[in-house]
Formats: sequence, C-alpha cells, structure tokens
Amino acid sequence: MARVLILGGTAEARELAGRLAETGSFDTITSLAGRTRSALELPGTVRSGGFGGPGPMADYLREERIDAVVDATHPFAEMISAHAAEACAAAGTPRIALVRAQWLFPKDGNWQEATSLVAAADLLPGLTSRVFLTVGRQGLDCFSGLDDIWFLVRLIEVMETPLPLADYQVLFRRPPYSLDEERAIMKDHAIDCLVAKNSGGPATEAKITAALEADIPIVLVQRPDPPPGERVERIDDCMAWLKGEL
Ligand SMILES: NC(=O)c1ccc[n+]([C@@H]2O[C@H](COP(=O)([O-])OP(=O)(O)OC[C@H]3O[C@@H](n4cnc5c(N)ncnc54)[C@H](OP(=O)(O)O)[C@@H]3O)[C@@H](O)[C@H]2O)c1
Repeated sequence: MARVLILGGTAEARELAGRLAETGSFDTITSLAGRTRSALELPGTVRSGGFGGPGPMADYLREERIDAVVDATHPFAEMISAHAAEACAAAGTPRIALVRAQWLFPKDGNWQEATSLVAAADLLPGLTSRVFLTVGRQGLDCFSGLDDIWFLVRLIEVMETPLPLADYQVLFRRPPYSLDEERAIMKDHAIDCLVAKNSGGPATEAKITAALEADIPIVLVQRPDPPPGERVERIDDCMAWLKGEL
C-alpha cells in the first residue's frame, strides 16, 4: 500500500484521512503538532509533535518510506508548510498542499484587510469597544495594549494561564460553528467588531455572514504566502493527484 503522510490539524486533513482509508489502497499517517490536549480521533496512524525542523523531517520521510506528503495544515501554519516543502525537496518525496478556498469579499460589505495580527490590532482603537476575536490563542499578545476594548475570545480548549488582554471573556468551543450560533454570539455579547483570519472554509464563512448581517465592521487578517508547489482546494482533486502520483 502507498504510504501517505498527511500534515494535519484541520478538518480537511481528518476528512482526507477517512477518505483514503475507505479506498483500502493507502496507508496514512496523520501528523499533528500536539498542541491540543483533546485531539479528535483520526482514521489511520497518528503521530504527534514537531519533527525538529526540515532536516529531521526529511530523515523521517526516508526512514518511514513515505511515498507522498499532503500538506493539509491550516493556511496560517506558515512554518510547518515551509519546512515540509524543504524536507520533501531534500528527500525527493512528492508533495501537494490541500488548502481551503479563501473567503471572497462582497463588494459593499463593511470589511477591511490587515496584513498581520499587529496590523489588525492597530485598526481597532476608535473603531470598536467590543470585539469578537477569533484568531486562535497564538498571537493574542498583539492585542494586549488595547486597554479600552473588551474582547470575547473563542478558543478550542481551556487555557491554564490568563490571556494577555486587559478585559476579556473566553468562549470554549470546537468548530464547526453554525450560522445561528454565530448570530447569537454577536447579539448576546453586543459585539461591534469581528476580528478573524481569512482562513476560508465554512468556519470563517458563518461568522462573516453573521457580522455582515449585523452590519458590524470586520477586520480580516490576510493569509501568509504559501511555499511554491502544487496546490488543490478540493479533497477529490487531492485524491486524484495521489492516485496519479502513486
Ligand atoms: N495557525 C493557525 O491559525 C491554526 C488554526 C487551526 C489549526 N492549526 C493547526 O495547528 C497546528 C500548529 O499550527 P501553527 O500555526 O502553530 O504551526 P507553525 O507555526 O506553522 O509550526 C510551528 C512548528 O510546529 C510544528 N508543527 C506544526 N504543525 C505540525 C504538524 N501538523 N505536525 C508536526 N509538527 C507540526 C513544527 O515543528 P518542527 O519544525 O519541529 O517540525 C513547526 O515548525 C498545525 O497542525 C495547524 O494545521 C493552526
């Protein structure tokens, strides 16, 4: 059976592992960063934790006789994608990126883009007093100087240390989030601004739709540039590539 390493941590990676297992022709290993204590169950083999950089990842690809790598990590997981590109080039392992489609801006919506989390934080004073902040737990310190703003921060799991924000409340929830849930959050917490990453996929779309409906400003952080190489947005296309390649 062909051995496929899926770099995961996303719903797409989980779905791909399931679809490949169903074919009976692929032996999959999903790699997780190991940050989430309560990771969901996955079909196939699972490994957890960093490889130690591109060199050790290339060694892993050779030792485990990996036939192909699918980089299905989150579009903002910049470092692992760069390391995978370098490691695959060094080991001569074919690689494809499975990346969800970006959210497309409606022409007349109340949104603006920021090039980074720091740039997003810079836009907030004067614009808002109650922010729904959905950028994950890394990078929250970019918002730490904004003492006059209250933040509703959505995280997947409980934090053991306080957040680096002056005034906030945490909502612990795991995606996917429905449109009704997003509408209720904005209303119940009197949210007057949404700050999110332009991650794409249904999780981004529901909150953006709810914010557009409520006519509150949206600040969206742009995706980092991905490493060069083959990319697909649909799982079917990724499976077709794997079948062709292997
Ligand atoms: N960034 C986000 O907004 C976001 C959102 C949802 C889910 N995620 C998921 O969370 C994980 C971590 O994201 P991140 O942005 O913190 O990553 P990152 O900054 O790109 O990666 C930092 C380091 O963590 C290790 N790592 C990351 N993902 C890994 C994986 N799937 N398997 C093995 N090692 C991994 C690598 O260590 P070594 O160099 O030692 O190999 C990497 O250099 C990813 O799996 C990503 O798909 C991220």
